[in-house]
Amino acid sequence: MKITYLDNAASTWPKPPGVKEAMVECLDEYAANPGRGGHRLGLRASKAIFHTRVKLAKLFQISNPNDIAFTSNATSAINLGIRGLVKSGDHVITTTMEHNSVRRPLEYLKKTQGIEISYVRPREQLQFNLEDFEREFRRTTRLVVVSHASNLVGSLAPIEQIGALCKKHQVVFMVDASQTAGVFPIDVERMNIQLLAFPGHKGLYGPQGTGGLYIHPQLDLEPMMVGGTGSHSEAIEQPLTRPDRYESGTLNTVGIVGLGAGVDFVLKTGIEQIRTKEARLTYDLIRRLEEVKGVTLYGPNKEVERAAVISFSIEGLDASEVAYILDQEYGIAVRSGYHCTPLGHETVGTINQGSVRVGFGYFNTEEDVDVLVHAIVDICQKISS
Ligand code: ALA
Repeated sequence: MKITYLDNAASTWPKPPGVKEAMVECLDEYAANPGRGGHRLGLRASKAIFHTRVKLAKLFQISNPNDIAFTSNATSAINLGIRGLVKSGDHVITTTMEHNSVRRPLEYLKKTQGIEISYVRPREQLQFNLEDFEREFRRTTRLVVVSHASNLVGSLAPIEQIGALCKKHQVVFMVDASQTAGVFPIDVERMNIQLLAFPGHKGLYGPQGTGGLYIHPQLDLEPMMVGGTGSHSEAIEQPLTRPDRYESGTLNTVGIVGLGAGVDFVLKTGIEQIRTKEARLTYDLIRRLEEVKGVTLYGPNKEVERAAVISFSIEGLDASEVAYILDQEYGIAVRSGYHCTPLGHETVGTINQGSVRVGFGYFNTEEDVDVLVHAIVDICQKISS
């Protein structure tokens, strides 16, 4: 059965040409330990990792590539940013649209260290109003952490404006770019972002097991892990040099090389083209599903700019049943349930039922939209007959 893959918000697939080849080349020719041995293969592995850092720095306008720490996914990057920075007595501003990867570390610190958290709620069409952030700042506010796009409905946060607000209040600004890295332009300087967490396996088209955190050069985070870095081995303490300070243990060289090839694809194709294509598919799907009786769509209406994430439900069927039928009978891969964001569901109004979620990637086509719409019409007809 031909598979129609529409779960790109979880992990993009397929990967562009060049990713697999770069990983195979690394495994075949130079997958030695990077930064440990001084031999030629170790140096080649180190250099390949640095090249990926340079490409990411170019993508996010980061002036020093060594300010990027590689992590195993966006969750570990977010944990490093939040738990490495926020301490007892601090206050954090975040939103009700966050993924559990932001909410849980914050709530964990609330429970264990008594930090305080303010959750800002979006207004109509799930759009944020800056005044709602402005009124939450306190003398103890240490961090504002915001997801650039909701992983539930794709609604966007105005990160440039929130960044300016953080600058005014001299508060650290962290962005979770899980749904936007590689799709929307992100400029850490212009947007005043001091911490940028990104996955490697979504819009950057790398393999799973990759991700990273940009850390502003003047911000020192407590490392999540300490240990061997291959540098300053004579010292008992974790080195201050970056990125070593935050990268103890052997890195995922093969994965990071694949991520480099994914970023090459993004840079070559151009963010504008990627976003335009995904936006067209998103608009078309919403337009067509609006006409299907029995379907309820969630999130902003189709005229509002968003990431390519669409949530819906079908009257009379549980979200997990819909996803199961789509997979088993039509070969269509979507995600169902709470998408690790119960607070987002509460905000959107779907807390009692969850939703079916479609996430488009650059390799989806109008034909995929057709296949999905026909399947949904078919399902709706069957349950109403
Ligand atoms: N965070 C990913 C998602 O939203 C896995 O599906």
